[in-house]
Amino acid sequence: MKTWLPMTRREFLYNSGVLTAALSARTIQAEHGIATVRPLDGTTLAKFVDALPIPEVLRGHGLRPSPKDPAVKIPYYRLQMKQAEAKLHRDLKPTRIWGFNSTIPGPTIEARSGKPIFVEWVNDLPTTHLFRIDHNLEGAEKDKPDVRTVVHLHGGRVSSDSDGYPESWFVPGKSNVCFYPNTQDAATLWYHDHAMGINRLNVYAGLFGLFVIRDQFEDGLNLPTAEFEIPLVLCDRLLDQEGQFVYPVSPDPIHPWVPEVFGDVVLVNGKISPHCEVKPRPYRFRILNGANGRFFHLAFAHQIEFWQIGSDQGLLSAPVRLKMLTLAPGERADLIVDFSKSRGESLVLKSDHLDVMQFRVSGTVSAAVPAIPKSLRELARMQESEAVKTRELLIEETVDAADNPTIMLLDRKRWMDPVTENPFLGSTEIWSIVNGTEDSHPIHLHMVRFQVLDRQNFYVMNYLRKRELKFTGPPVAPDRNEMGWKDTVRAEPGMVTRIMVRFDGYAGRYVWHCHILEHEDNEMMRPFDVIPRS
Ligand code: C2O
Ligand code: CU
Ligand code: CU
Repeated sequence: MKTWLPMTRREFLYNSGVLTAALSARTIQAEHGIATVRPLDGTTLAKFVDALPIPEVLRGHGLRPSPKDPAVKIPYYRLQMKQAEAKLHRDLKPTRIWGFNSTIPGPTIEARSGKPIFVEWVNDLPTTHLFRIDHNLEGAEKDKPDVRTVVHLHGGRVSSDSDGYPESWFVPGKSNVCFYPNTQDAATLWYHDHAMGINRLNVYAGLFGLFVIRDQFEDGLNLPTAEFEIPLVLCDRLLDQEGQFVYPVSPDPIHPWVPEVFGDVVLVNGKISPHCEVKPRPYRFRILNGANGRFFHLAFAHQIEFWQIGSDQGLLSAPVRLKMLTLAPGERADLIVDFSKSRGESLVLKSDHLDVMQFRVSGTVSAAVPAIPKSLRELARMQESEAVKTRELLIEETVDAADNPTIMLLDRKRWMDPVTENPFLGSTEIWSIVNGTEDSHPIHLHMVRFQVLDRQNFYVMNYLRKRELKFTGPPVAPDRNEMGWKDTVRAEPGMVTRIMVRFDGYAGRYVWHCHILEHEDNEMMRPFDVIPRS
């Protein structure tokens, strides 16, 4: 049994109360110049008073000719990024947000495996940003427009020109059409802003939503569907007394960037700690951690067991029984929760000290439902011998005299340094992510799916000085719910996390990065090139 929970060091301090008051009060003062706006203590808001909303499923805008064969017509969707107001809680005034079609989260896009679609992403935002921009960050210099966006489909196997490259941003009044082939297994993907240097601010404002791919195999499993399949998009936020989002800034007015942000309210599908009426039967929940920096540790207050059936890139080989689910920023989990033994009860889903939401189980007896299948999708474990190359990639954090992080680097390189990760199309590689920091970093690669091989403790000082790996313990197998296809993996502190990646799909330029958005915006992101075979 593990005794510690993966999270960042500052999140730990925050959760244990050391940082709470200090960080939020000070930074909010700095944000507003004078201390006129007081932070709202999110824990004082009434819990479970709003009903859980379900994001709307996006409707198409007709058909367009396929890029490959104009005789074939493909569904066309359009989403507008807009500034709007959202009612996050019964007792709060409406909150200014940026949302796709004016909602947080945006509408859900439903796709079928093998059936391509177009999405036109329209930037209809104002030209002034909701939050303070740090012009010292790469790509967010003073000569760049404050408001710019580009949308990435996280988990999508997409050609590079539709992938949402961070520098391919566009300004208000412009739009961009992406082609999503959906030639991949059923999975819960999500779309979100990815604009260079301000990604953390755009996502915090509300620019994200779900993109679900389904397939025939999954249909055949008889999993709970329709009203019994519920998406739960999680994120945390800080608010002021007026109910507006607060994005904290550092005490240094010239460098407003902060290393991490933790809110004291949890939003589920855009409502603060809502409730959901359920029947005493199994439900399927597709959960996304859409937070900037918070790791969720989801568990029911009554320690009820549940089953995980899928991870980032789709179904596991068999359901995994859990009492607690750790979900790092960017990760997804597909769960089955059976409420049939909780008739008439109210169950609270928590994450550490936070109340995430409440389920109110009705007292009615419901008709018999199919049992959870014993096995799901067949899944071959990749063999190390398949790898043609191993890359050792260091995660490093630079701190100032006061131990505050100033920059986060991948392999001691900045965004602008020449591309060093250049796998051949179709080749398989092992990436050994050597985490020399004291924090857990969720590492994400675009375009591909991968398997987690293992994690192993190493002698950090020795590596930082001599770049020589000395292990201090045996390799540890991934958790059972990490044995499926992933696109985001927790690189744990002081450990080498090895993943095995086949670069199937498309040649071209992509990115890999830490999904703590504050890190990503401050150099913890690197381009990689998939090289075509000649
Ligand atoms: Cu969730 Cu590079 O993205
Ligand atoms: Cu991605
Ligand atoms: Cu990180």
